[in-house]
Amino acid sequence: MTDPSMAQGQGFLSLRGLTKRYAGFTAVDNLDLEVPRGELVAFLGPSGCGKTTSLRMIAGLVPATAGQIVVGGQDLTAVQTHRRDMGLVFQSYALFPHMSVAKNVAFGLEMRKVPKDEIAKRVREAIALVHLSGKEEHRPAQLSGGQQQRVALARALVIRPSILLFDEPLSNLDAKLRDEMRNEIRDIQQRLGITAIFVTHDQSEALTMCDKVVVMNQGRLEQIGTPVDLYERPRTPFVASFVGRTNRLKAVAKDGVAEFAGLRIAAPAGLSGPVEVMVRPHRVTLAPSVGGEGVTGTVMRAIFAGDILQYDVDVAGQTVSVELATRGGETVLAPGTMVALAWRPQDIFVYGAAA
Ligand SMILES: Nc1ncnc2c1ncn2[C@@H]1O[C@H](COP(=O)(O)OP(=O)(O)O)[C@@H](O)[C@H]1O
Ligand SMILES: [Mg+2]
Repeated sequence: MTDPSMAQGQGFLSLRGLTKRYAGFTAVDNLDLEVPRGELVAFLGPSGCGKTTSLRMIAGLVPATAGQIVVGGQDLTAVQTHRRDMGLVFQSYALFPHMSVAKNVAFGLEMRKVPKDEIAKRVREAIALVHLSGKEEHRPAQLSGGQQQRVALARALVIRPSILLFDEPLSNLDAKLRDEMRNEIRDIQQRLGITAIFVTHDQSEALTMCDKVVVMNQGRLEQIGTPVDLYERPRTPFVASFVGRTNRLKAVAKDGVAEFAGLRIAAPAGLSGPVEVMVRPHRVTLAPSVGGEGVTGTVMRAIFAGDILQYDVDVAGQTVSVELATRGGETVLAPGTMVALAWRPQDIFVYGAAA
């Protein structure tokens, strides 16, 4: 609120028409983005969609072909990396193997000619922040992967960057550590109120850690929103299927009404022709069919997975996956059982099918 750049209705970090072209190939296409101060924003998308290239342009490690990078009202597009005041954390920790933890963390401050006692104090604080106190004299090889990633985080934080940039920092960690580091990174980012970009191909990381998520597809921004926005109101089939899991069913629409298995579903106004109807498996309810009303189908496959009971149901030649949370005592319906499916209108998305 006191941030003058916010008063102009802009973010602390602004990307304006950011573009990267390689010979005959556009890796990042006209990216516009406003990141308010103190937010953690995910760049989410499949491998090759341009996440790393975008991040490296922000850091100044890759020159932009076109567009602008503005931080706190200052245009940094032509400013060199080491003057951009950004902290970087990579998937490979990129630590100096021959240096102690403390030396690794101190390195950026020594480069910046910060006075010795100030360095000692800040290194101590950064190491405490990532819970590595007592490990100052260890070498990277004497630490676990998670601890090495903490050193990398401390090294990025110690320079007190205006922006923190993460590129898939958790991909090399095992599942349990990954969850732990997720919480820790989020916690530190919020405590310091630091603005950060978090690149990931893992939708659950993006949803669980970040204030906003930028979904990227083939170099373009597909949708930006809060995790709830993206999950509940995906604007494109790509977002609907990349963020969370979904059934993709073929249907035909006429004048804004799609028909699926005898059910009439509201489609975007005026939409006619082939459409895709999407509904998430756990938003479908299922009951043995009596009287054949509603959407009926036949159980093809039933899988009891402990916490969920999963059915593949054939509905007029298409498969609808259904996931039911188990509560104990349910009967698993046998293949061949006739069932009725139902869902709430707000859980259905209809998109015009690509030609
Ligand atoms: N130096 C380069 N020359 C040509 N193409 C590149 C170069 N760097 C990246 N690319 C291409 O740009 C696209 C985006 O890459 P990248 O940003 O690394 O994707 P992501 O991080 O989302 O997996 C990819 O198709 C990649 O092959
Ligand atoms: Mg990448």
